[in-house]
Amino acid sequence: MKKTIQKKSKHTVFITGATSGIGLEISRKFAGEGWGVICHYNSSDKKAMALKEEMMAYGVSCVLVKADLSSKSGIDKLVKKIKTLKIDSVINNAGSYLASKHFTKLTTDDIDKTFMVNVFAPIRITSAVFAAMKKNMFGRIVNISSIAAKYGGSSRSMHYGCSKLALEGLTRTIAREGAEFNILANTVRPGVIDTDFHKKFPKDMKARISMIPMKRMGRPEEVADLIYYLGSGKNSFVTNETIAIAGGE
Ligand SMILES: NC(=O)c1ccc[n+]([C@@H]2O[C@H](COP(=O)([O-])OP(=O)(O)OC[C@H]3O[C@@H](n4cnc5c(N)ncnc54)[C@H](OP(=O)(O)O)[C@@H]3O)[C@@H](O)[C@H]2O)c1
Repeated sequence: MKKTIQKKSKHTVFITGATSGIGLEISRKFAGEGWGVICHYNSSDKKAMALKEEMMAYGVSCVLVKADLSSKSGIDKLVKKIKTLKIDSVINNAGSYLASKHFTKLTTDDIDKTFMVNVFAPIRITSAVFAAMKKNMFGRIVNISSIAAKYGGSSRSMHYGCSKLALEGLTRTIAREGAEFNILANTVRPGVIDTDFHKKFPKDMKARISMIPMKRMGRPEEVADLIYYLGSGKNSFVTNETIAIAGGE
């Protein structure tokens, strides 16, 4: 690994699902702006090590935390770890639907796991850091929802759409409870963004893109720029908002 001089970062961000797609670009954006990063990942140690190397090249600190957020024990493990760390900003980005099935065929387990990752984990993570943010009189929370919360999920992603709408409830409570302590919470609703997410759930992308007024997918970097604004000290007065980045959808 190339030796780099590590800058002392004033602030640290915790990003879930940091090794791919939107999460990877969020990590790059914060590190590029000099923030220390705590990067959560789930499946690939190889990708996580590559991310750490990339983050170190920015000269900032990088802590990796591995956890499967579809289980209670995975969430408990992560929460225990982050409670020991100083965190100024949380980006609840990890998200998925853990079964792509017609809603009439969903099992309790399918719904449970999807809600674990998309709702329970963000609630536990945000609750774990709230007291320290309050004491520091600084905190930023960005919850990554989806345009699916606006329209409802498709017939095969109903549980996903429902879970993202539930996640938006977290933003509302934290924004209200945190405002007087300079803890600002917002929801970002990405539209169709060009990441591997769509490879996991193949559909007719040409038809889907034709429904977007701007007739193209968004780029993860475009989403990361917005998230950096909301999730950093650049944002000093925006809270309790739901902002779509969806090319006009
Ligand atoms: N791309 C879009 O069009 C789009 C649109 C609307 C909303 N979003 C939202 O944007 C966020 C990022 O998605 P993306 O597009 O960047 O897709 P992605 O590349 O598939 O990233 C999803 C991330 O979630 C993590 N994750 C999935 N299941 C997990 C589990 N069981 N435990 C812990 N982490 C888990 C993944 O970690 P591993 O890879 O390590 O498993 C991955 O880092 C998600 O919340 C997604 O719902 C995306």
